[in-house]
Amino acid sequence: MKKNILVGVSGGIACFKAAALVSKLVQEGYSVRVIMTEGAQKFVTPLTFQALSKEAVMTSVFEEMYPNEISHIDWGKWANLFVIVPATASIIGKCANGIADDVLSTLFLASHAPVWFCPAMNRKMFMHPMVQTNMKKLEQLGYRFLNGQPGRQACGDIGSGRMMEPKQILAQIHDFFVKDKPFLGKKILITAGPTVERIDPVRYITNDSSGKMGYGIAQLAVKQGAEVTLISGPTNCEIPEGVIFQRVESAEQMFQAVQAVYASMDAVIKVAAVSDYRPAKQLPEKHKKGNKHWSLELERNPDILSWLGAHKKHQILVGFAAETQNAIHYGRKKLQEKNLDLIVVNDVSKPNVGFHYDTNEVVLLFKDGTEEALPLQSKQAVAEKILFHVRKLLEV
Ligand code: PMT
Repeated sequence: MKKNILVGVSGGIACFKAAALVSKLVQEGYSVRVIMTEGAQKFVTPLTFQALSKEAVMTSVFEEMYPNEISHIDWGKWANLFVIVPATASIIGKCANGIADDVLSTLFLASHAPVWFCPAMNRKMFMHPMVQTNMKKLEQLGYRFLNGQPGRQACGDIGSGRMMEPKQILAQIHDFFVKDKPFLGKKILITAGPTVERIDPVRYITNDSSGKMGYGIAQLAVKQGAEVTLISGPTNCEIPEGVIFQRVESAEQMFQAVQAVYASMDAVIKVAAVSDYRPAKQLPEKHKKGNKHWSLELERNPDILSWLGAHKKHQILVGFAAETQNAIHYGRKKLQEKNLDLIVVNDVSKPNVGFHYDTNEVVLLFKDGTEEALPLQSKQAVAEKILFHVRKLLEV
């Protein structure tokens, strides 16, 4: 997934290294936008950064570049990472004290992204207790400092305060996006929620699935770097940010949606509670009350997961099993019959387990015959454990 990097340039002789960093970032496929303080513009022109980033450079809070946005707010939302390079004593001091009197210190306060500082200043300034105090204050608030190796400075002094080299900063940025993003480059299909099988225009067969379990897994998988396609029956869950979402209603619709994307997936997690049966005939008009009894003929829906198992190539397949008796026995049977790598069994007859709750208690059954029981815990925590095993199965 393409990442957005905001580069904030403050005024120091190391500005030319910021230009080198922007050039490398763009070559590596990052989207880069640059903001410059007045001081920075004394060393390098905005045109340099515009040419390197292929984007307009922000130099003032008051000169809006695009009439349809408030740039200093919108750019703060756009960024996945904000790197201040070089970071002078002045900009560090302003940020540490919440002073927003220029474009860069204002963006610092408006940024939603993690902010990193790459200090660059004379060794005496760097070691000054005020600067050290400001840096500590920012570090304690969770901001990160990338310091260069001590050595010869532009002024001729030798000591700390030199800026980290652009290629090392680039390596840190790569690490940042790969670390905690083990699924980067992987495509995961998740199905969630119930299916709805229409009887007539106002009646249907469905079940109690709320979607919480599946949406929880989808949200976490996105956070861990996966490209997630979420195919969902009707639920009230909020659609997790960043997923490719498709709403379906019936098992047949879910089947078609799943078939259309299966070939390109690395893993499939089938959390959806798919109705095994549907009315053999869907009535075009509302069924009128008449005889004492009304028999409804049902026919089998396609078993989506069995189809996936039968057409499996490279994909890792994870199923769920909602059982009310002999849960492990039936779970193992489904694992084998549907050709799965892992099945997550929940005994939904237990309190606070399965449908609708915020919690779940499951047993993970693996293809190699091993199993792992997870005690009752939040569905987010269960999602965490399931994705841990999907990572292992995908060897990422
Ligand atoms: O949505 P929540 O309220 O958070 O509840 C979570 C849950 C209880 C729905 C979830 O934990 C769960 O157990 N999901 C699977 C429910 C289910 O349909 O189980 P099953 O044993 O009937 O099906 C076994 C597997 O085959 C499932 O992965 C199911 O998606 C799949 N299946 C079933 C029937 C069918 N026609 N096609 C399928 O693909």
